[in-house]
Amino acid sequence: MAGNIKAIKGTKDTLPSESYKLQYIEQAALDTAKAYGFHEMRTPVFEYTELFDRSVGETTDVVQKEMYTFNDKGDRSITLRPEGTAGAVRAFLEHGLFNEPLPQKVCYLTSCYRYEKPQAGRLREFHQFGIECFGAGSPVADAEIIALANSYFNFIGIEKLAVEINSIGCPECRKKYSEALKAYFEDRKSELCETCLSRLDRNPMRILDCKSPVCSEIASGAPVVLDYICDDCRDHFEKLKTYLDALNISYVVNPQIVRGLDYYTRTVFEFVSLDEKTKGLVLGGGGRYDGLIEELGGAAMPACGFAMGLERLLIAMEESGIPFPEAPKCNLSIVTAGENALLKALELSADLRSQGYSVNIDTVGRSIKAQMKFANKINSEFTVVIGDNELENGVAMLKCMDDGTQTEVSLDAFDEGFERAYMNRAVANFDSADFSALTQVDINNLLR
Ligand code: HAM
Repeated sequence: MAGNIKAIKGTKDTLPSESYKLQYIEQAALDTAKAYGFHEMRTPVFEYTELFDRSVGETTDVVQKEMYTFNDKGDRSITLRPEGTAGAVRAFLEHGLFNEPLPQKVCYLTSCYRYEKPQAGRLREFHQFGIECFGAGSPVADAEIIALANSYFNFIGIEKLAVEINSIGCPECRKKYSEALKAYFEDRKSELCETCLSRLDRNPMRILDCKSPVCSEIASGAPVVLDYICDDCRDHFEKLKTYLDALNISYVVNPQIVRGLDYYTRTVFEFVSLDEKTKGLVLGGGGRYDGLIEELGGAAMPACGFAMGLERLLIAMEESGIPFPEAPKCNLSIVTAGENALLKALELSADLRSQGYSVNIDTVGRSIKAQMKFANKINSEFTVVIGDNELENGVAMLKCMDDGTQTEVSLDAFDEGFERAYMNRAVANFDSADFSALTQVDINNLLR
């Protein structure tokens, strides 16, 4: 490859000027999950390909067209995970978590890989936050998952959002539905794409999420699964609605939602942006998958979960002007003149850093003027200049960069002096703050 090597199409670098935003939404997700009793699980980025064939499903777009699959040096077929649920279920079974008190509730932050056509909000490497609840069959569990996701979006400040729910029934009701679909698509067989033709006998439901314009136009007139669900599944769905009402969560029933992965049974749902600039963008989705644990070799056990795309969430927040907390700041720059001052700066910075302050010292041998300029560029809240005079007198002038005020601080008790000045500044900022202009998101951030 000639010239500079560039990032691969559909991947995204997160630079320091952005990464704090990602850290913020990730931490908020982990905190929300914790409030609902979900604890983090980490699984490998690659798994045996068979895991995804058997869970996501062989006739899905993800498995048929989008997986990053390769043979390793031992000639085993390996796949970069296209989603988080399959690995979480594999780990749940492999480590016997079914022997622990049920339900087991896990969450994860993971990178995922799908060979899709890149566009705004669609990447080939993207990141998901997901939650999975193993061993709970009641619709209350579905409602809790939806409530968790909903309260997370509220916390972050995404208000223009629809919660769309549907039921796609169990394998029993799905049989009748598949027959109805087959009959419908059979009539327009000649117009279907090649992939969908192969799905017609094996899994006609997958034709519903084909991205080809002709197939989706045909699919828009197909029978809907909600008309075919059995009494038990209908009862489950009605109860879910009652629980969502009790939780004060507004939702719409969208009978068109089938989701693009094979493992779902009964409840499926999506969180769809209603903001003008990102209208229709699916921020997250999930549902129940009561057959998957058994399919992957465990005992029959119900489960449900949800995942959302972090890049899509950032797009939605930015497009609707939702504020992020401030980028982390440098609390103090120690500007030094000479070797002895540098030695003192090393000692003071280690002290203050161990107390949690962010401190910058000169590591490139700049002049005092250039160090001051740099301190300004990185938005240091305070600066202090240490040279021979300061070392001799044992005191230095601590400068607050906001208002230029200077305070004399003893070098022997520098940490105490700095802390006092730092706190005084915080109190002054607090006193002059206009709290009437705070949004709910600002208040949430202050309370964290
Ligand atoms: P999914 O709908 O395939 O579900 O993906 C969940 C979310 O990941 C999507 O709503 C979207 O925000 C994001 N996402 C998907 N593909 C991309 C992409 N190419 N680029 C950027 N973001 C993307 C699942 O993955 C299920 N495992 C969710 C689940 C968990 N169901 C039960 N438990």
